[in-house]
Amino acid sequence: MGILDGKVAIVTGAGQGLGRIESLELARLGASVVVNDLGTQPDGSGASEELAQSVVQEIEELGAKAVAAFGDVANWDDAQRIVQTAVDTFGDLNILVNNAGFSRDGMIVKMTEEMWDSVIRVHMKGHFAMIKHTMAYWREKSKAQGGEPLYGRLISTASDSFLMGNLGQPNYAAAKAGIAYLTMSAARECQRLGATANVILPRARTRMTMSGPWAGIFEKPEDGFDTFAPEHIGPLVAWISSPQAAHVSGQLLQIWGKHIRVYEQPQAALDHENQDPWTIEGLDEVLGSFFEGKKPVDDGFMLPMG
Ligand SMILES: NC(=O)c1ccc[n+]([C@@H]2O[C@H](COP(=O)([O-])OP(=O)(O)OC[C@H]3O[C@@H](n4cnc5c(N)ncnc54)[C@H](O)[C@@H]3O)[C@@H](O)[C@H]2O)c1
Repeated sequence: MGILDGKVAIVTGAGQGLGRIESLELARLGASVVVNDLGTQPDGSGASEELAQSVVQEIEELGAKAVAAFGDVANWDDAQRIVQTAVDTFGDLNILVNNAGFSRDGMIVKMTEEMWDSVIRVHMKGHFAMIKHTMAYWREKSKAQGGEPLYGRLISTASDSFLMGNLGQPNYAAAKAGIAYLTMSAARECQRLGATANVILPRARTRMTMSGPWAGIFEKPEDGFDTFAPEHIGPLVAWISSPQAAHVSGQLLQIWGKHIRVYEQPQAALDHENQDPWTIEGLDEVLGSFFEGKKPVDDGFMLPMG
């Protein structure tokens, strides 16, 4: 018996990297998996059906059930078709892992309109289209069962880039921030159905991280614990998908190696109500002293590990 026996999952961008690991983990625990992938190049260009098909084969070799759903998550009709594949093939949909995406890094002054649009599209519209069609299915199902709570899990994939606003990733950082708050909003709507929605912030060695300027951080060590092996991400996705996490929703969970972090939503660092309406002098008095001694943002890429 696996903790996900009888559950049906979709994992997007599951032909390689994190999505492949997440699909295998969900299947190992009993879920039937719709393996979506468009088979793109690292910059989002091109398409190939082979990747998704090869992961389906790996899952079947585990003795679990899977089906490939080739398609672009940011295409409205493709997203609807991927959701329908789950229902048509396995009779239901319980878990959506939104993972597909790519990055096209560059400084703002060198970023083209196309670099901006393509990254915002694949992440934000891709997440939204998949969430929208999944929740539309859940709402109909909820109505059909007289409003009884259903088993639903939305898992979105954000990034350190959203937390840090990484240098050279304005499009990716913005898209990942959008995903985080889209998912917070979805979590509130999911509550009406008995479902949950959470965000993961993974760090692992994949094609994406090995093609960035920080590839050295993610290298496999010659010996000792392999902190950035993508396999470390699978258990978190499985746990959020499991019955044990039924009460966990609207959360930001970061994972790498043996680390786990839960981030609170932004908290006010200063909360002051003035006696008089604001003037520049009044603001200078309050803000000037608050910011005194505080450093401005630095200009580097940061991966806070401590
Ligand atoms: N690897 C990390 O450390 C890390 C860190 C933070 C966030 N992420 C996020 O994790 C997710 C997976 O990244 P990865 O590192 O495994 O990268 P990856 O390049 O190995 O895999 C991404 C997959 O998404 C697919 N894809 C791209 N566009 C698609 C589309 N429109 N429709 C369907 N599939 C599409 C690609 O074909 C590819 O197989 C991404 O959302 C990424 O931003 C990764």
